[in-house]
Amino acid sequence: MPQENSRQQLKALLQLAYSAERAAALAYRGHWHSVVDVDERARIKQIEEEEWHHRELVGAMLEKLGAQPNKQREFRALLIGRALAFGCHVMGWFLPMYGAGRLESRNVREYETAARYARDCGHEEFIDNLLMMAEVEWEHEYYFRSRVLVHSFGKRLNLWPAPPPKETIRQTFARETEQALTLVEAAG
Ligand SMILES: [Fe+2]
Ligand SMILES: [Fe+2]
Repeated sequence: MPQENSRQQLKALLQLAYSAERAAALAYRGHWHSVVDVDERARIKQIEEEEWHHRELVGAMLEKLGAQPNKQREFRALLIGRALAFGCHVMGWFLPMYGAGRLESRNVREYETAARYARDCGHEEFIDNLLMMAEVEWEHEYYFRSRVLVHSFGKRLNLWPAPPPKETIRQTFARETEQALTLVEAAG
């Protein structure tokens, strides 16, 4: 049953995201404490708060799906988040900025995928928040990329692929939804 399949996929992806947000928020807490520049501290602190907010939103979705966070993943996220937070104090300035940017680019796609599953299993009420989170992750990626690129070493590096422009997140989703509807109508 395709709808049940999408529901299961959505649940699994949200469980992953829920714990990943914990690891990210904890890591960013260490990160902003480790940087000296006032603007960088403020922005990364704000990013930490945004990750906690995402976790809350994803948690509410899981609850609505009748699902629990995965205990093992939660514990792992705690360890990873704390290890990264500590790492930020010893790794210097560049590596945490680079690592964060790389990870954030993956988060954008994850929330876009979750929005598709939500649409396909009839949870349209999740879509707006999922796309909003994809957009916020896009801004996180943009920020860390911009930081990496102010560094002389970063300028010479071949960075991870840049996500397409932010507007395309909602545009692509709307186009796909329209195409899916056309297919359903044609089949009927
Ligand atoms: Fe997030
Ligand atoms: Fe993020």
